[in-house]
Amino acid sequence: MKDVSAFHREAVERIRTAVPGTAIVAASGGIDSTAAAVLTQEALGPRARAIFVDTGLLREGEVERSRALFDACQLKVEVLSAAEVFLGALAGVTDPEEKRRRIGAAFVRLFEREAERFGTTVLVQGTIAPDWIESGGSLRDTIKTHHNVGGIPKDSKLTLVEPLRDLYKDEVRALARHLGISKPGRQPFPGPGLAVRVAGPVTAERVEIARIANAIVEEEVDRAVEEGKLRQPWQYFSVLLPVRSVGVTGDNRVYGEAVSIRVVDSVDAMTATASPIPEEVLRRMAERITRALSGRVTRVLYDLTDKPPATIEWE
Ligand code: XMP
Repeated sequence: MKDVSAFHREAVERIRTAVPGTAIVAASGGIDSTAAAVLTQEALGPRARAIFVDTGLLREGEVERSRALFDACQLKVEVLSAAEVFLGALAGVTDPEEKRRRIGAAFVRLFEREAERFGTTVLVQGTIAPDWIESGGSLRDTIKTHHNVGGIPKDSKLTLVEPLRDLYKDEVRALARHLGISKPGRQPFPGPGLAVRVAGPVTAERVEIARIANAIVEEEVDRAVEEGKLRQPWQYFSVLLPVRSVGVTGDNRVYGEAVSIRVVDSVDAMTATASPIPEEVLRRMAERITRALSGRVTRVLYDLTDKPPATIEWE
């Protein structure tokens, strides 16, 4: 993208051409889909209806933060509560790709239902280039099926409009700044949510553990950045591992869960390096996570792997 103003004008025109009638817009509260929703609202006005799905797999405070973001962009967005649908779809599933397919399918079924209510078959979403490249587009191997690409069932009647599909993350950020979307300090958060950060079975109990541990990692990294102990990382989160280990709480043996902390630096998410995070910050996270989740989490690890050979998320 050479000129952000030209991209803006052309994207609005392209949406108008692609959508002669009405459309629904998937708004996740992330920067990509918010930029896509702002362009679509500008292009279609009341002919577009934006929908935010509370999957029950969101981070602490995510619904409230997303509402505040939409308000700040003057975006009208409807919030749908669907935690039971998503946890139900994931019951008994441990394979990472199958999780993504189930989540993708649950999203599509919900959007199909909402589209029908709104009298349309068009879904606008904020897919960007790494999403489809890593999902096996352009003859590449599938690294991960992004929920908004490979998870769409073949029999779906929805027609997709993806105004940002040729942009990389840094370009979306430039576009978002141009559109007046400000998300201070916000990091990318995957569409399948905490499900890709809960390795192994995804249950309400394990999602809650992941949510609490993740919030502690975010708080401690934000604090370390504020105090000048760490450069702002690209992404920082925790992953609940599919292993248990023995620990002690008081006089009792506990067979608890294990959490890995992941903090990475990157420019476009295509490659990444594990951040050199001060040991005192790591120790504080480990202490807070095991205290907040006493009897449930008995071990905290730090992931030192770059991408490649790893990926940023674990699943
Ligand atoms: P990986 O884990 O493949 O992730 O190194 C690269 C970037 O993409 C994010 N990510 C996703 N984003 N839907 C998304 O919207 C997804 O299914 C998805 N999977 C990974 C990840 O957080 C990182 O920023």
